[in-house]
Amino acid sequence: MLRVAVVGAGAAGLCAARHVLSRPGCFAPPVVFELSDSVGGTWCYDERAGTYDSGRPVHSSMYRDLRTNLPKEVMMFPDFPFDPQLSSFLPHQEVQRYLERYCQSHGIRPHIRFNTTVESVKPIVVTAEGEEERTAWEVTSSDLSGRQKTETFDSVFVCSGHYSDPHIPHIPGIEKFTGTVLHSHSYRFAEPFSGQSVVVLGAKASGLDISIELAKVGAQVTLSHRRPRLTFPLPSGIRQATSVEAVDDKGRIRFQDGSVTEADVLMFCTGYNFRFPFLDAAQLGLEIQDHMISPLYRFMVPPAFPSLFFIGICKIICPFPNFNCQVQFALAVLAGSVTLPTRAQMEDEVRRELQVKLERGVQHRHLLILDQDQWEYCNMLSRSAGFSPLPPVIRSLFEEVHQQRQIHPGNYRKLNYRLISDTQWELID
Ligand SMILES: Cc1cc2nc3c(=O)[nH]c(=O)nc-3n(C[C@H](O)[C@H](O)[C@H](O)COP(=O)(O)OP(=O)(O)OC[C@H]3O[C@@H](n4cnc5c(N)ncnc54)[C@H](O)[C@@H]3O)c2cc1C
Ligand SMILES: *[C@@H]1O[C@H](CO)[C@@H](O)[C@H](O)[C@H]1NC(C)=O
Repeated sequence: MLRVAVVGAGAAGLCAARHVLSRPGCFAPPVVFELSDSVGGTWCYDERAGTYDSGRPVHSSMYRDLRTNLPKEVMMFPDFPFDPQLSSFLPHQEVQRYLERYCQSHGIRPHIRFNTTVESVKPIVVTAEGEEERTAWEVTSSDLSGRQKTETFDSVFVCSGHYSDPHIPHIPGIEKFTGTVLHSHSYRFAEPFSGQSVVVLGAKASGLDISIELAKVGAQVTLSHRRPRLTFPLPSGIRQATSVEAVDDKGRIRFQDGSVTEADVLMFCTGYNFRFPFLDAAQLGLEIQDHMISPLYRFMVPPAFPSLFFIGICKIICPFPNFNCQVQFALAVLAGSVTLPTRAQMEDEVRRELQVKLERGVQHRHLLILDQDQWEYCNMLSRSAGFSPLPPVIRSLFEEVHQQRQIHPGNYRKLNYRLISDTQWELID
């Protein structure tokens, strides 16, 4: 019986626990470590930002009025639908409720240790009599009183999320800016910004969404980004600007095209860094940077330690379906039904794959974006581990919504969909 530790009880950790529990012949019940006192991770909205009374940083980056940017039909774990009564694009509370229900129906809760932070995860070599040397994992955790405990596991699933540690690009002269500086991680709702002039940096999901929220309460928004000018209709309170280059001596924000503006607020919607304070990257043969972890075979496995699994580090994916595939693949590896290549072969393959992407012109910080590659990635995992692939309707609807979002960023969420079969969806009113 293999003993598995899971770090985090967000969607990825719950998914890992669910599948471990469904293979009782092979795995002991998992131990899920969760630093907060609830499940759901990102989806667990907290009005507070910054740090808790305990001094611990607030994990969730959720804002009050967020609605999902994927319809529930593609967001769901493929084997666990959302409530059919609900509309397709959900307020975050509904996703939180869904994850609680997932936890409940799979009997995961008794296996979660809440209020418990994983402090370190270390490989150790064990030799039992008459056995070959093998790697085990020492997991040290601490409870709220600071009491530490070290336990040994056969495998560790890292499910600690990567939308908590704000990425803030360096802006020369930023110390001369006298207004408020914040990152979307700490943004909760728009009202305090009413009537203010806000420069939003970054026009990806959060930058665009938050700009629209701010414009609705009468903020003057300058949406600064380095992409080609957005051509879809934006609310009248939003104007676009090129990327921010510096803050000048008068405290004004200067853009790349030379124009300047005064602003009350500078809001970084510039994404997040990977951060695993409980891992020693060098010891694991890994390099962990702001936007990259490498080498990871199949974006999951450090070749030097094939019983450690990172779940959910890819970007621009259907997160829950992707986690579901990764977890099933990882458990097949542990159970021995999938044999991994040798360390050298895995390192080679990762190096080659990244090289191909770089040659295609993909920037280093975008190497973990899967986007269109996510379907083949999930298919490949399902083929090698022998579980059912994602039905093609997920891809089809994901792509449809992607298009709608480009055309109507402000109101694509009004549409409702229904899955009719493994290959077809329909629009409903
Ligand atoms: C603003 C925002 C909007 C999003 N919108 C969507 C959307 O519409 N649709 C969608 O599908 N996805 C969306 N996502 C992506 C979302 O992150 C994923 O859906 C999913 O919730 C990620 O789950 P996770 O388990 O990987 O990480 P998380 O949800 O971050 O969970 C990680 C858990 O690990 C715990 N943890 C961390 N470190 C430790 C430690 N050392 N010890 C113990 N526990 C630890 C944390 O407390 C947390 O509970 C959004 C993300 C953000 C930030
Ligand atoms: C976690 O700690 C908080 C704060 O001390 C406490 O209120 C809560 O009951 C604890 N939760 C669990 C499940 O232990």
